[in-house]
Amino acid sequence: MLEAACEVELYDGPTPIPESELIARLAGKHGMVSVLTDRVSAKVLEALPDLKVVANIAVGYDNIDVAAARRRGVIVTNTPDVLTNATAELTWALILAVTRRVVEGDRLVRRNGWKGWTLDFMLGMELTGKQLGIIGRGRIGRAVGARAPAFGMTAVYATRGARSSDLTEMSLDELLVSSDVVSIHSPLTDSNRHLLDRRAFARMKRSAFLINTARGPIVDEEGLAWALQERLISGAALDVYEREPEVVQKLLSLENVVLAPHLGSATRETRTAMIELAIKNAVSVLHGRPALTPVA
Ligand code: DGY
Repeated sequence: MLEAACEVELYDGPTPIPESELIARLAGKHGMVSVLTDRVSAKVLEALPDLKVVANIAVGYDNIDVAAARRRGVIVTNTPDVLTNATAELTWALILAVTRRVVEGDRLVRRNGWKGWTLDFMLGMELTGKQLGIIGRGRIGRAVGARAPAFGMTAVYATRGARSSDLTEMSLDELLVSSDVVSIHSPLTDSNRHLLDRRAFARMKRSAFLINTARGPIVDEEGLAWALQERLISGAALDVYEREPEVVQKLLSLENVVLAPHLGSATRETRTAMIELAIKNAVSVLHGRPALTPVA
Protein backbone atom coordinates (compact mmCIF):
# COMPACT_ATOMS: atom_id res chain seq x y z
CA MET A 1 0.00 0.00 0.00
CA LEU A 2 2.74 2.45 0.91
CA GLU A 3 4.91 1.65 -2.08
CA ALA A 4 1.96 2.23 -4.39
CA ALA A 5 1.55 5.71 -2.93
CA CYS A 6 5.06 6.99 -2.22
CA GLU A 7 8.77 6.24 -2.07
CA VAL A 8 9.48 4.11 0.96
CA GLU A 9 12.53 3.55 3.12
CA LEU A 10 12.12 0.65 5.52
CA TYR A 11 14.04 0.44 8.80
CA ASP A 12 14.16 -3.12 10.05
CA GLY A 13 17.20 -2.90 12.31
CA PRO A 14 17.30 -3.34 16.08
CA THR A 15 14.85 -1.38 18.21
CA PRO A 16 14.76 1.18 19.60
CA ILE A 17 16.39 2.95 16.68
CA PRO A 18 19.04 5.38 18.03
CA GLU A 19 17.84 8.99 17.91
CA SER A 20 20.68 10.10 15.61
CA GLU A 21 19.86 7.35 13.12
CA LEU A 22 16.16 8.15 13.28
CA ILE A 23 16.91 11.77 12.42
CA ALA A 24 19.38 10.84 9.68
CA ARG A 25 16.98 8.40 8.03
CA LEU A 26 14.01 10.75 8.21
CA ALA A 27 15.87 13.78 6.86
CA GLY A 28 13.98 15.11 3.84
CA LYS A 29 11.09 12.64 4.32
CA HIS A 30 7.50 13.80 4.53
CA GLY A 31 5.97 10.98 6.53
CA MET A 32 6.88 8.43 9.16
CA VAL A 33 5.04 5.23 10.03
CA SER A 34 6.23 4.62 13.57
CA VAL A 35 6.01 1.96 16.25
CA LEU A 36 5.89 2.51 19.99
CA THR A 37 9.62 1.96 20.47
CA ASP A 38 10.37 4.97 18.19
CA ARG A 39 10.82 8.03 20.39
CA VAL A 40 9.67 11.01 18.38
CA SER A 41 10.82 13.79 20.70
CA ALA A 42 10.68 17.56 20.28
CA LYS A 43 14.36 17.39 19.27
CA VAL A 44 13.63 14.82 16.55
CA LEU A 45 10.72 16.89 15.23
CA GLU A 46 12.80 20.06 15.24
CA ALA A 47 15.46 18.35 13.14
CA LEU A 48 12.89 17.30 10.51
CA PRO A 49 11.28 20.40 8.96
CA ASP A 50 9.87 18.42 6.00
CA LEU A 51 7.91 15.98 8.12
CA LYS A 52 4.11 16.28 7.76
CA VAL A 53 2.78 13.17 9.44
CA VAL A 54 3.75 10.60 12.08
CA ALA A 55 1.41 7.61 11.83
CA ASN A 56 1.91 5.50 14.94
CA ILE A 57 1.03 1.80 14.74
CA ALA A 58 -0.47 1.80 18.24
CA VAL A 59 -3.42 3.28 20.04
CA GLY A 60 -1.05 4.75 22.65
CA TYR A 61 1.15 7.62 21.53
CA ASP A 62 3.21 8.47 24.59
CA ASN A 63 6.32 7.80 22.44
CA ILE A 64 5.56 10.98 20.49
CA ASP A 65 5.78 14.55 21.75
CA VAL A 66 2.32 15.46 20.46
CA ALA A 67 2.46 19.04 21.74
CA ALA A 68 5.73 19.63 19.86
CA ALA A 69 4.25 18.03 16.74
CA ARG A 70 1.21 20.28 16.96
CA ARG A 71 3.41 23.35 17.29
CA ARG A 72 5.25 22.34 14.12
CA GLY A 73 2.07 21.45 12.21
CA VAL A 74 2.95 17.74 12.08
CA ILE A 75 -0.15 15.50 12.14
CA VAL A 76 0.06 12.57 14.59
CA THR A 77 -2.25 9.59 14.14
CA ASN A 78 -2.87 6.40 16.11
CA THR A 79 -4.80 3.14 15.61
CA PRO A 80 -7.87 3.13 17.86
CA ASP A 81 -10.74 0.60 17.65
CA VAL A 82 -8.95 -2.05 15.59
CA LEU A 83 -7.07 -3.39 18.63
CA THR A 84 -9.82 -3.11 21.21
CA ASN A 85 -10.97 -6.74 21.11
CA ALA A 86 -7.48 -8.23 20.98
CA THR A 87 -6.38 -6.20 24.00
CA ALA A 88 -9.57 -7.02 25.92
CA GLU A 89 -9.07 -10.72 25.17
CA LEU A 90 -5.44 -10.63 26.37
CA THR A 91 -6.60 -8.87 29.53
CA TRP A 92 -8.99 -11.72 30.26
CA ALA A 93 -6.29 -14.25 29.45
CA LEU A 94 -4.14 -12.59 32.14
CA ILE A 95 -7.00 -12.34 34.65
CA LEU A 96 -7.71 -16.06 34.28
CA ALA A 97 -4.04 -17.03 34.22
CA VAL A 98 -3.15 -15.24 37.45
CA THR A 99 -6.29 -15.98 39.46
CA ARG A 100 -6.19 -19.70 38.54
CA ARG A 101 -2.38 -19.98 38.73
CA VAL A 102 -2.10 -21.38 35.20
CA VAL A 103 1.46 -20.24 34.48
CA GLU A 104 2.69 -21.16 37.95
CA GLY A 105 1.14 -24.62 37.47
CA ASP A 106 2.73 -24.98 34.05
CA ARG A 107 6.16 -24.20 35.53
CA LEU A 108 5.61 -26.76 38.27
CA VAL A 109 4.60 -29.53 35.86
CA ARG A 110 7.57 -28.81 33.58
CA ARG A 111 10.07 -29.13 36.43
CA ASN A 112 8.48 -32.43 37.52
CA GLY A 113 7.26 -30.77 40.71
CA TRP A 114 3.69 -32.09 40.54
CA LYS A 115 3.16 -34.86 43.06
CA GLY A 116 -0.47 -35.57 42.14
CA TRP A 117 -4.03 -34.34 42.78
CA THR A 118 -4.94 -33.32 46.34
CA LEU A 119 -7.93 -31.43 47.72
CA ASP A 120 -6.08 -28.27 48.67
CA PHE A 121 -3.46 -28.17 45.94
CA MET A 122 -2.83 -24.86 44.10
CA LEU A 123 -6.11 -23.22 45.00
CA GLY A 124 -6.89 -20.03 43.14
CA MET A 125 -9.63 -17.41 43.28
CA GLU A 126 -12.97 -17.97 41.56
CA LEU A 127 -14.19 -15.03 39.45
CA THR A 128 -17.93 -15.65 39.79
CA GLY A 129 -19.53 -13.14 42.14
CA LYS A 130 -16.43 -10.94 42.29
CA GLN A 131 -15.88 -7.29 41.38
CA LEU A 132 -13.68 -6.15 38.51
CA GLY A 133 -12.40 -2.61 39.04
CA ILE A 134 -11.47 -0.92 35.77
CA ILE A 135 -9.26 2.16 35.65
CA GLY A 136 -9.95 3.81 32.29
CA ARG A 137 -13.35 4.26 30.67
CA GLY A 138 -12.17 4.28 27.05
CA ARG A 139 -12.77 1.68 24.37
CA ILE A 140 -10.53 -1.02 25.85
CA GLY A 141 -11.69 -0.55 29.43
CA ARG A 142 -15.30 -0.80 28.29
CA ALA A 143 -14.58 -3.87 26.16
CA VAL A 144 -12.98 -5.58 29.16
CA GLY A 145 -15.97 -4.62 31.32
CA ALA A 146 -18.45 -5.86 28.70
CA ARG A 147 -16.95 -9.36 29.00
CA ALA A 148 -17.23 -9.39 32.81
CA PRO A 149 -20.81 -10.78 33.00
CA ALA A 150 -19.67 -13.85 31.02
CA PHE A 151 -17.51 -14.70 34.06
CA GLY A 152 -20.16 -13.70 36.59
CA MET A 153 -18.23 -10.57 37.55
CA THR A 154 -19.54 -7.06 38.16
CA ALA A 155 -17.53 -4.34 36.42
CA VAL A 156 -17.05 -0.98 38.10
CA TYR A 157 -15.06 1.97 36.77
CA ALA A 158 -12.95 4.68 38.38
CA THR A 159 -14.65 8.05 38.01
CA ARG A 160 -12.83 10.72 36.03
CA GLY A 161 -14.58 14.02 35.58
CA ALA A 162 -18.21 13.76 34.55
CA ARG A 163 -19.91 10.46 35.29
CA SER A 164 -21.07 8.17 32.47
CA SER A 165 -24.71 7.20 32.76
CA ASP A 166 -24.09 3.69 31.36
CA LEU A 167 -21.32 2.63 33.78
CA THR A 168 -21.10 1.88 37.50
CA GLU A 169 -18.53 4.37 38.75
CA MET A 170 -16.78 5.14 42.00
CA SER A 171 -13.73 7.03 43.19
CA LEU A 172 -10.37 5.39 42.56
CA ASP A 173 -9.94 4.81 46.29
CA GLU A 174 -13.36 3.13 46.61
CA LEU A 175 -12.52 0.98 43.60
CA LEU A 176 -9.18 -0.09 45.05
CA VAL A 177 -10.68 -0.92 48.42
CA SER A 178 -13.60 -2.96 47.08
CA SER A 179 -12.39 -4.73 43.90
CA ASP A 180 -11.17 -8.31 43.64
CA VAL A 181 -9.39 -7.68 40.35
CA VAL A 182 -8.10 -4.21 39.37
CA SER A 183 -7.32 -3.73 35.69
CA ILE A 184 -5.65 -0.67 34.15
CA HIS A 185 -6.80 0.68 30.77
CA SER A 186 -5.72 4.33 30.68
CA PRO A 187 -3.33 6.01 28.30
CA LEU A 188 -0.07 7.10 29.95
CA THR A 189 -0.14 10.80 30.78
CA ASP A 190 1.95 13.09 32.97
CA SER A 191 -0.73 12.88 35.65
CA ASN A 192 -0.96 9.10 36.01
CA ARG A 193 2.69 8.03 36.29
CA HIS A 194 2.88 5.70 39.30
CA LEU A 195 -0.86 6.11 39.89
CA LEU A 196 -0.65 2.61 41.34
CA ASP A 197 2.02 3.03 44.01
CA ARG A 198 2.74 1.56 47.45
CA ARG A 199 -0.07 3.60 48.98
CA ALA A 200 -2.54 2.33 46.38
CA PHE A 201 -1.49 -1.32 46.87
CA ALA A 202 -1.92 -0.90 50.62
CA ARG A 203 -5.53 0.17 49.98
CA MET A 204 -6.32 -2.97 47.93
CA LYS A 205 -7.77 -6.17 49.36
CA ARG A 206 -5.11 -8.69 50.37
CA SER A 207 -6.95 -11.19 48.17
CA ALA A 208 -6.95 -8.87 45.11
CA PHE A 209 -5.06 -9.08 41.83
CA LEU A 210 -3.63 -6.27 39.67
CA ILE A 211 -3.65 -6.46 35.86
CA ASN A 212 -1.82 -3.99 33.60
CA THR A 213 -2.17 -4.14 29.81
CA ALA A 214 -2.00 -0.35 29.38
CA ARG A 215 1.39 1.26 29.97
CA GLY A 216 4.12 0.22 32.40
CA PRO A 217 4.87 3.58 34.06
CA ILE A 218 1.30 3.79 35.41
CA VAL A 219 2.45 1.18 37.94
CA ASP A 220 5.38 1.66 40.32
CA GLU A 221 7.03 -1.70 39.57
CA GLU A 222 9.36 -1.61 42.59
CA GLY A 223 6.35 -0.77 44.76
CA LEU A 224 4.40 -3.64 43.20
CA ALA A 225 7.20 -6.11 43.93
CA TRP A 226 7.22 -4.87 47.52
CA ALA A 227 3.41 -5.22 47.83
CA LEU A 228 3.56 -8.77 46.45
CA GLN A 229 6.43 -9.75 48.74
CA GLU A 230 4.60 -8.29 51.74
CA ARG A 231 1.44 -10.13 50.61
CA LEU A 232 -0.52 -6.85 50.52
CA ILE A 233 -2.13 -8.17 47.34
CA SER A 234 -2.45 -11.74 46.04
CA GLY A 235 -0.94 -11.47 42.60
CA ALA A 236 -0.37 -9.46 39.45
CA ALA A 237 -0.35 -10.02 35.72
CA LEU A 238 1.55 -7.56 33.58
CA ASP A 239 1.84 -7.11 29.83
CA VAL A 240 3.67 -3.78 30.00
CA TYR A 241 6.64 -2.48 32.00
CA GLU A 242 8.27 0.72 33.12
CA ARG A 243 11.45 0.16 31.07
CA GLU A 244 10.58 -2.39 28.39
CA PRO A 245 11.99 -4.89 27.72
CA GLU A 246 13.56 -4.76 31.22
CA VAL A 247 11.53 -6.09 34.14
CA VAL A 248 12.27 -5.30 37.77
CA GLN A 249 14.40 -8.22 38.98
CA LYS A 250 12.31 -8.84 42.11
CA LEU A 251 9.21 -9.56 40.02
CA LEU A 252 10.99 -12.30 38.08
CA SER A 253 11.42 -14.46 41.16
CA LEU A 254 7.82 -14.22 42.37
CA GLU A 255 5.47 -17.14 41.62
CA ASN A 256 2.27 -15.10 41.94
CA VAL A 257 3.07 -12.87 38.95
CA VAL A 258 2.30 -13.53 35.30
CA LEU A 259 4.61 -11.63 32.95
CA ALA A 260 3.70 -11.28 29.27
CA PRO A 261 5.92 -9.49 26.72
CA HIS A 262 3.60 -6.63 25.59
CA LEU A 263 1.24 -8.85 23.59
CA GLY A 264 -2.00 -6.87 24.01
CA SER A 265 -2.62 -6.29 20.32
CA ALA A 266 -0.51 -9.19 19.07
CA THR A 267 -2.93 -11.17 16.92
CA ARG A 268 -2.50 -11.59 13.17
CA GLU A 269 -5.89 -9.99 12.55
CA THR A 270 -5.28 -6.96 14.74
CA ARG A 271 -1.69 -6.23 13.78
CA THR A 272 -2.69 -6.37 10.09
CA ALA A 273 -5.54 -3.95 10.74
CA MET A 274 -3.27 -1.63 12.77
CA ILE A 275 -0.66 -1.51 10.02
CA GLU A 276 -3.28 -0.86 7.35
CA LEU A 277 -4.86 1.95 9.34
CA ALA A 278 -1.49 3.61 10.01
CA ILE A 279 -0.59 3.43 6.33
CA LYS A 280 -3.97 4.87 5.29
CA ASN A 281 -3.43 7.72 7.75
CA ALA A 282 0.04 8.49 6.39
CA VAL A 283 -1.02 8.31 2.74
CA SER A 284 -4.09 10.43 3.35
CA VAL A 285 -2.09 13.27 4.91
CA LEU A 286 0.65 13.00 2.28
CA HIS A 287 -2.02 13.38 -0.41
CA GLY A 288 -3.42 16.48 1.27
CA ARG A 289 -6.47 14.77 2.73
CA PRO A 290 -7.48 14.69 6.40
CA ALA A 291 -6.10 11.89 8.59
CA LEU A 292 -8.55 9.08 9.40
CA THR A 293 -7.65 8.87 13.09
CA PRO A 294 -5.67 11.93 14.24
CA VAL A 295 -4.92 12.04 17.95
CA ALA A 296 -6.93 14.57 19.94
C1 DGY B 1 -0.85 0.14 21.71
O1 DGY B 1 -1.45 0.09 20.65
O2 DGY B 1 -0.70 1.19 22.33
C2 DGY B 1 -0.32 -1.13 22.22
O3 DGY B 1 0.39 -1.01 23.39
C3 DGY B 1 0.47 -1.83 21.16
O4 DGY B 1 0.23 -3.17 21.33
